Amino acid sequence: MQFTRSDFPEGFVFGTATSAYQIEGHGFGGAGATHWDSFAATPGNVARGENGALACDHYHRLEEDLDLLAGLGADAYRFSTSWARVLPEGRGQVNEAGLDFYDRLVDGLLTRGIKPAVTLYHWELPSPLADLGGWRNRDIAGWFADFAEVLMRRIGDRVWSVAPINEPWCVGWLSHFDGYHAPGLRDIRATARAMHHVLLAHGRAIQVMRGLGMSNLGAVCNFEWSTPANGGEAATRAATTYDAIYNRFFLGGLFKRAYPTEVLVGLGAHLPDGWQEDFETIAAPLDWLGLNYYTRKVIDHAPGPWPNYQEVEGPLEKTQMGWEVYPDGLRDFLIRTATEYTGDLPLYVTENGMANADTHNTPDTARITYLEQHLGAVQEAIAAGVPLHGYFTWSLMDNYEWALGYEKRFGLVHVDFETLERTPKASYQALAKWWRA
Ligand code: FCB
Repeated sequence: MQFTRSDFPEGFVFGTATSAYQIEGHGFGGAGATHWDSFAATPGNVARGENGALACDHYHRLEEDLDLLAGLGADAYRFSTSWARVLPEGRGQVNEAGLDFYDRLVDGLLTRGIKPAVTLYHWELPSPLADLGGWRNRDIAGWFADFAEVLMRRIGDRVWSVAPINEPWCVGWLSHFDGYHAPGLRDIRATARAMHHVLLAHGRAIQVMRGLGMSNLGAVCNFEWSTPANGGEAATRAATTYDAIYNRFFLGGLFKRAYPTEVLVGLGAHLPDGWQEDFETIAAPLDWLGLNYYTRKVIDHAPGPWPNYQEVEGPLEKTQMGWEVYPDGLRDFLIRTATEYTGDLPLYVTENGMANADTHNTPDTARITYLEQHLGAVQEAIAAGVPLHGYFTWSLMDNYEWALGYEKRFGLVHVDFETLERTPKASYQALAKWWRA
């Protein structure tokens, strides 16, 4: 890669990201059942019916994986904690082995000089809470705040940063409107409630952690650039609606105490009573915002009920996910977010990377190129004045890519899912070369 550390601002943080259910092996260590287990056990939801019971067996290979991170020269590691590993029923009885695991993880990072960047929730909702309506039930904000307190009383004194929830759009829209992720609903009322409650839960968790005296608390949202399929009025309106739902709804709640009108047209009637009063909690000040970015979508008008958009195939080069490679979107989101929402607040790219059909002995040059292009976009944003403080690649290692199972490989490290052997890829070596310097 063409970069050195001196090409980025002083103190710029480089790291990688993973999540609990995707790597740990949820069948181990007394973790409770989650809605991802039952979603995956239902035919048709997940490729080959794969689940996270074993995943990368990170639970038992923690030290080896932390050594891989250290070998990469990562400054920080963004990982998530499983609610059901800590509280198998979602509430009540604590699984001490779960707390011990995250304790060892945090200490293992600190021993290696790596900053622990925690995400409290990356999608594996404890099943007993899903039975009570999960994100549709307003009480989830309190359940989640209690989980945050239990966990942070144990590790909160040593973590570098915390974000309560990974990608509210996926928790709300993808899982309750599109039905692609657990709990696999396709219901507009459920969607409206989940999208609002996920922000309320975020706000309650922030309150709890502030109460514990913690700092460097943020939020992590995902973004997809929305390009109209043509110059017509209908496609332009459809692309604007897509942008509002995906990219502006959660930023609106967090930073403007308002939801975009284009979203309220469809969801307004389905939001819970008194939702406006929750902005006091939702929009409490943060210390940073993280942006996850992978691709853009080309959007056209669709007939039928709101939201009247459909994705159409775009002309650009695609990754193993079928996602177009569009680095300009990363630059433009960073600039737009700072200009319209966050001002001087520190921003981080908290996920960026590509899936590629890697084998353990072919160099992943496509990933090196993808990372170079996106790091170039990051530099353009910095040059334009965006207060960007760090960049995390997704992911440290190949893992469970949700509804697409183990086939889609996002890792800097190859994982053989038969033997669980780890092999650093060419992209790992390329990053290590300048991250370690
Ligand atoms: C993000 C998720 C992460 C992974 C990548 C590819 O939306 O946060 O878990 O699935 O996409």
